[in-house]
Amino acid sequence: MPSLLVLSGPNLNLLGTREPEIYGRTTLAEIHAQLKSEAKAAGYDLEARQSNHEGELVDWIQATPGKFAGLLFNPAAFSHTSLSLRDAVAAVPLPTVEVHLSNVFAREAFRHTLVVAGAARGVVSGFGAYSYSLGLQALIQILRGS
Ligand code: DQA
Repeated sequence: MPSLLVLSGPNLNLLGTREPEIYGRTTLAEIHAQLKSEAKAAGYDLEARQSNHEGELVDWIQATPGKFAGLLFNPAAFSHTSLSLRDAVAAVPLPTVEVHLSNVFAREAFRHTLVVAGAARGVVSGFGAYSYSLGLQALIQILRGS
């Protein structure tokens, strides 16, 4: 079975207790379990990881060729700042879909700039934990069409 990689950036390990009025009460472990079962039903293996470290995320993205068919990515705060993550996404051939739990465009102005997203195929933002599932559906659709 082809494999998909799900990456989540800084502070997303705290989902469930972190600003629940913004990010909801679903934990990252629950999101990962849900994605694994959705991917399996569609014929894909899925591996999910989280890091608070930009360089570690860069390393994981660089290592995707030959191992993963697609990347679902919530770069969290790095979304708004990280040229190195954008360049990493642009450097690898697999399609990337960016996701955000919150609607970043309805929040502070500094969240309106998405630096990494320009290297992604598209962005899902604002649907809570369901953003990850919607992003997964989009990623699978891209892979089926290519
Ligand atoms: C986030 C939005 C970012 O602005 C924020 O820094 C996060 C989470 C989201 O999923 O809504 O950590 O990426």
